[in-house]
Amino acid sequence: MKKIDNYIARSETDYNRLYSSSLANPEFFWNQIAETFLWKKKWTKTLEYDFNKPEFKWFLNGKLNITENCLDRHLLNDPEKTAILFEPNDPYQESEKISYKELHKRVCVFANVLKNKNIKKGDRVCIYMPMVPELTVAVLACARIGAVHSVVFAGFSSTALAARINDAECKALLTADGSFRGSKIIDLKSIVDQALLECQSIESTIVFKRIGSDVTMNNNETWWHDEINGVSDYCEAEEMDSEDMLFILYTSGSTGKPKGMVHSCGGYMVYSTYTFLNVFQYHPSDIYWCTADIGWITGHSYIVYGPLLAGATSVMFEGVPSYPDYSRFWNIVEKHKITHFYTAPTAIRALAKHPVSLVDDNNLSSLKVLGTVGEPINEEAWNWYDKNIGKSKCPIVDTWWQTETGGIMLSSLAGVTDDKPTYATKPMIGIQPVLLDNNGKEISEFDKEGILAIKYPWPSMARTIYGNHQRYKNVYFAAYPGYYFPGDGALTDSKGNYRITGRVDDVVIVSGHNLGTAPIEDAINLHENVVESAVVGYPHDIKGNALRAFVILLDEKASINMDKEIKEQISKTIGPIAKPDIIQIVPGLPKTRSGKIMRRILRKIASGEKENFGDISTLLNPEVVKQILNES
Ligand code: WTA
Repeated sequence: MKKIDNYIARSETDYNRLYSSSLANPEFFWNQIAETFLWKKKWTKTLEYDFNKPEFKWFLNGKLNITENCLDRHLLNDPEKTAILFEPNDPYQESEKISYKELHKRVCVFANVLKNKNIKKGDRVCIYMPMVPELTVAVLACARIGAVHSVVFAGFSSTALAARINDAECKALLTADGSFRGSKIIDLKSIVDQALLECQSIESTIVFKRIGSDVTMNNNETWWHDEINGVSDYCEAEEMDSEDMLFILYTSGSTGKPKGMVHSCGGYMVYSTYTFLNVFQYHPSDIYWCTADIGWITGHSYIVYGPLLAGATSVMFEGVPSYPDYSRFWNIVEKHKITHFYTAPTAIRALAKHPVSLVDDNNLSSLKVLGTVGEPINEEAWNWYDKNIGKSKCPIVDTWWQTETGGIMLSSLAGVTDDKPTYATKPMIGIQPVLLDNNGKEISEFDKEGILAIKYPWPSMARTIYGNHQRYKNVYFAAYPGYYFPGDGALTDSKGNYRITGRVDDVVIVSGHNLGTAPIEDAINLHENVVESAVVGYPHDIKGNALRAFVILLDEKASINMDKEIKEQISKTIGPIAKPDIIQIVPGLPKTRSGKIMRRILRKIASGEKENFGDISTLLNPEVVKQILNES
């Protein structure tokens, strides 16, 4: 078998050479990379695509199982190598090292448990769990038997969980009695109980005991530890077609319900591994830590799949950066001699607010590579990260990508290509980004600003929105025919480095989490005293963006507890992450003559602007702008 190492760029010259060859003949290029994996049967065609349909297929008729590549393959070389290094929430509880051999065993056992529950290839399994090793086991056990996992972040509310279970018609639910988050204990099981009242498709629920609380077990609900008892650790990996579904992961849209992005087996495997190795420049003795939660795509691609496919040691952290105090991240770096540290700008900004002695009391000399993801990083945060964490010697990879892209699309390669503060810099090998003007025409010069688009398929692109291919087409392929449209704006410098300028739609990124404003408005409008609402984002020095809601009430006199009640309503419907920082009761909302809310004006007001609203005379109710301003 060919070795993937031969295709990893180790110098800028390598990058240029590989990048050119990936553009000159993409199929030949990706063929070579795919050949470095374990396939049960080789593919007959590398790529088939049509941007108009839209339809994208990679490694057609190839047969594989991704877990054989994550696990079995590594047992031949180094079975005792640590696959997962688990750091619990409680710093006094011992961390756990799980070898590839042990992880393989646990995955096979749990795969057999799922089979015993009559879960078959193609069935959807919802996973709603804290960041414990069993979450990774659950994900891989699904993949082992060809079941489709749908991981729901364990901070989502019961209503949000139920909506996701119902959308994918999940047959089983894997969860825990509760979770530890800093000093808090979250009662996951009662959230689950509430959600399941609205779900008909779940036939069995398996509960992992994490906190040992007293929970009620209902019909068809069993304990994880009882289920695995005495179960065989031999489980043949299901033969999957390259294009079979591997997982669904929900992401917010600018309108309507969340989008269940569908990723398939072959292309996702190839691309997540290839980007992991190139971007992070991981070497076999490195200890890699991504602080994301597996409930998001970053955790899927760069805690679980990318690192395990590459045979890396991947750290899983259950806790939060602020517990027991703001030095926790740096304690962990020292404790486990972390070499690679990958986090979100919002975490960096929050940590930078605290005395730098919290950092300096720790030995961070093991660090070689730093990374960021999820939102644009401002220069101040970049510099703080570089100076205090990287000691000005670690490259910083600013990785731009999305749930939809499956893997990193724009980023420097650590120590190989240049980084530049606030720039995601260059396209990954195989990726063809362009900037479009408002008419959808490609901007060919550098040093310009425009709408970011991708003009050629790549292996890990999401194939559809579960159950709604038309929406997939409308959101990503309709506005600019012939391109994938991610919804972000960008600019280039004179050398062709890309800088992401932010969303160009109604998605707001708060603390690195995508939030559609429409679903939050829907949640607010559920309150019986609310007539209408509009939610917009505004710049916030730690969260990147925060939310401000403008709300019209039926009865203003009843507004005493509205702030609290609206926040509760949002927590219940979506989750605490979607709560606005500011809720302003307003007499009206600025509207166009066709009745559309002019969010542009509200965004300006929320950002502290007092004038320069452009021509508001075309509004149905221009006077309302002044009223809102006077009361804000
Ligand atoms: C934003 C997270 C600037 C962007 C992997 C994108 C970024 C959305 C960056 C996807 C970055 C992600 N610089 N913006 N390095 N990375 N974004 O689906 O707006 O949770 O469209 O995927 O986050 O968020 P998602």
